[in-house]
Amino acid sequence: MAIPRITVLVSGRGSNLGALIDAERQGRLGGTVAAVLCDRADAAALAIAAEQGIATQVIEHRAFANRDAFEAALAAAIDASEPDLIVLAGFMRVLGAAFVARYAGRMLNIHPSLLPSYPGLDTHKRALADGVRVHGCTVHFVTADVDHGPIVMQGAIAVHDEDDESTLAARVLTVEHKLLAAAVRAFCERRLVIAGRRVRVKGEAVPPAALVVPSPFAPTIPRAVDPCDFP
Ligand code: GRF
Repeated sequence: MAIPRITVLVSGRGSNLGALIDAERQGRLGGTVAAVLCDRADAAALAIAAEQGIATQVIEHRAFANRDAFEAALAAAIDASEPDLIVLAGFMRVLGAAFVARYAGRMLNIHPSLLPSYPGLDTHKRALADGVRVHGCTVHFVTADVDHGPIVMQGAIAVHDEDDESTLAARVLTVEHKLLAAAVRAFCERRLVIAGRRVRVKGEAVPPAALVVPSPFAPTIPRAVDPCDFP
């Protein structure tokens, strides 16, 4: 069977794109990043792709009369790259219903929150303002309802008392990189089964039952005697 082709849509920094490229080089992506499409000519992501010899194309919104014309050009570029999977990795434009429907079931997005909490922008700031103890990221299938498509995988981290927006964003980002590569691999290996709003991931290890934060089982004050020392 041919190796699945992945087209990645980006707008900026490109660290998630970099994580996908690294995973491919290390033989743990299950597919190949065949093309990178970007809506900003100044995006750092373009250099990351170019360094690896991956075809890039810039399609800037402002070059088109309206959203339909922009999306038609974007769809033409996607189709020309013949992808099995399209990944939105920090692609900052909201896509219309017809565009999304064209790629139903084969377009993934990475979002920096535990959806359905905090769709949209400023997720880390909003999570901190709400005082949540657990935060994270989500990979989901893209539907017309922005940030509400069927959830494929989520990664959770504890929010620390000392966290600010940038420390929290940095820790979530390291999880994003692992999560996105794992979700893409599961797609490429045909292990994702969409059933309504739920996605079954075949062949995944059973996750730990619970993440409790703060943990009642790990006191912050060190104990003189480790309970494990008792017979
Ligand atoms: C990530 O936090 C991603 O979840 C969000 O946009 C950011 C893109 O970062 N959708 P990068 O361009 O992949 O570094």
